[in-house]
Amino acid sequence: MSSETTTHVPNLTLNDGSTIPQLGFGVFQVPPEDTAETVTKALEAGYRHIDTAEMYGNEKGVGEAIRASGIPRDELFVTSKLNNGFHEPDSARKAFDQTLTDLDIGHLDLFLIHWPLPTKYDGTYAETWNTLTEFVADGRTRSVGVSNFQPEHLAQLDKESDVVPAVNQIEVHPYLTNEKARRASLDRGILVEAWSPIAQGAVLGDPAVAAIADRLGRTPAQVVLRWHVQRGDIIFPKSMSADRMRENFALFDFELEGSDVDAVSALDKGEDGRSGPNPDVFDYIP
Ligand SMILES: NC(=O)c1ccc[n+]([C@@H]2O[C@H](COP(=O)([O-])OP(=O)(O)OC[C@H]3O[C@@H](n4cnc5c(N)ncnc54)[C@H](OP(=O)(O)O)[C@@H]3O)[C@@H](O)[C@H]2O)c1
Repeated sequence: MSSETTTHVPNLTLNDGSTIPQLGFGVFQVPPEDTAETVTKALEAGYRHIDTAEMYGNEKGVGEAIRASGIPRDELFVTSKLNNGFHEPDSARKAFDQTLTDLDIGHLDLFLIHWPLPTKYDGTYAETWNTLTEFVADGRTRSVGVSNFQPEHLAQLDKESDVVPAVNQIEVHPYLTNEKARRASLDRGILVEAWSPIAQGAVLGDPAVAAIADRLGRTPAQVVLRWHVQRGDIIFPKSMSADRMRENFALFDFELEGSDVDAVSALDKGEDGRSGPNPDVFDYIP
């Protein structure tokens, strides 16, 4: 695999000094039995950042592909997440151990609280957060962060922890620009990771996106993913198709004009555009 394919993905610096490739590959809804092959294809396409979670049931396949690739560990960035049933400190410690065992790639680069579950565990997500910081102290993950944290959840961490999350992974795409949660994160020096960056395909047929894509000779997915890149967010689109993996990776040889960025941002539908659960009330424990 040539280094040429990887060098043009920008590395962003997290608030703890580590760096993260701005573009990665997500494996939500990649079936466990297909994960090793799918991640192998993604690595061949040039991706060096993989986003998985215990909840996705496919950490073993991610690890298998990484070990088989021969790519030096320090050229890869791997994220996993604490599942919703394991917020109690001792459960979080065991769950983290299991994630490391299942991935079997040595350390993690980033470990996140997957959902805040403010209505569960007596709302003690700050205690869960403080437990995760132990894993940085003992060197088993480079960075820790949160996912699906609303502004008030970040404000609670301000009060109960000395450690600021490195990232907040939240739903962001043209139909839910999620500016309040983005702003609350960025104002604290927390980088935003935009999940479902193409709204699982729902934004690709939008006439405004299609018009920009036609004018630039790019695909709708490339226009939307490039919009995220220019806003400074981290993305990891998921695809099972090698062609679409390559399409989603080809974002760094063109630019959107400011007016195009604004036109895509104007597609925001607020809460009506949300495709996933609302973090304020989501309380699912798999
Ligand atoms: N923290 C959280 O709570 C959370 C929640 C959701 C997602 N995530 C993370 O974010 C990642 C990405 O989000 P996502 O998987 O929900 O959705 P997504 O990346 O927005 O969209 C994936 C869907 O779009 C299709 N697709 C991909 N590229 C395409 C292209 N160029 N043209 C047309 N269709 C295309 C894929 O189909 P094919 O596979 O057939 O190509 C798949 O159905 C996840 O994999 C996961 O890592 C995190």
